[in-house]
Amino acid sequence: MIKVDFERERTWWDAQAPHEEEDRADEAVNRALRWREITRHLEGVRTILDVGGGTGAFSIPLAQYGFEVIHLDLSPAMLEIARLKAGGLHNIRFVEGNAVDLSSLADCSFDLVLALDGAVSFCGDRAEEALLECCRVAGRTLIVSVLHRARLAAQWASTSLHVLGGLAPAVYAMLERGEWHQDQYPENAAFARGSTHDYLGSLHGFLPGELRSILEGAGLQVVRCGGVGSLAGLCPPEVLGRVLADPALFPEFVELCDAYDREVMPEGPGTEQRAGLLAVARRADA
Ligand SMILES: C[S@@+](CC[C@H](N)C(=O)[O-])C[C@H]1O[C@@H](n2cnc3c(N)ncnc32)[C@H](O)[C@@H]1O
Repeated sequence: MIKVDFERERTWWDAQAPHEEEDRADEAVNRALRWREITRHLEGVRTILDVGGGTGAFSIPLAQYGFEVIHLDLSPAMLEIARLKAGGLHNIRFVEGNAVDLSSLADCSFDLVLALDGAVSFCGDRAEEALLECCRVAGRTLIVSVLHRARLAAQWASTSLHVLGGLAPAVYAMLERGEWHQDQYPENAAFARGSTHDYLGSLHGFLPGELRSILEGAGLQVVRCGGVGSLAGLCPPEVLGRVLADPALFPEFVELCDAYDREVMPEGPGTEQRAGLLAVARRADA
């Protein structure tokens, strides 16, 4: 597996920053479901670390509620947008850093650690290291969302058949090991054509059992581990478009998606866009 190049990742995320909060397809549902999950775990929380906080979609509202927040991100451009959005808030600090090395932060130093949508999975071959760092600094609760291997394997197979007319080695690398690196195989460039900088990052797609076992191995108790927004991900785009355009229907649909994830298909593939596998884990002695 080719190693992740964080300089390249940083440049790529910098270019993504102006579009970070432009939701496409089922992204708004994924975001709303993550909010629901966060609000279930705020009791007794004072300090929050948001790893890969991006432009502050979660960190800033949490600071506005009064929590002490550290917002850490690899990308200076993401941090700059977030800083501007935060205005005069004094209880949020912005830190440039890398999820694979949180050594400036002590063990168990935050009541709640968030690592949502990207910061772990985009570390590619170092994704497990990033996840373990998030576990280490979580004093009570960790909420993490990562790319779901089931979803990526299906997308990779479909892109490969569509663009190359056959099943490229990258499909098997994703299916069998959750691995993707743009430069791993010559055909991979075709997968990323049309993405920002014609690049698709260095990724690791997790399976629910794999994520659960890393969290448990780090001494955390897993409260939830499975797909987020699978119902939305299974809806045809035109139907979803109608739901998203109807402000009265949207909250009811989100509630239905939440129930579907919990009661109907806990190990479903999650939403099509954004990280579709979500876990909540607690420190047993907290
Ligand atoms: C898709 S955005 C998600 C932002 C926010 N967490 C959310 O869910 O809306 C992913 C963020 O992770 C950051 N990121 C990617 N790799 C990272 C790393 N190794 N360490 C810290 N942040 C990273 C990116 O710069 C980007 O801001």
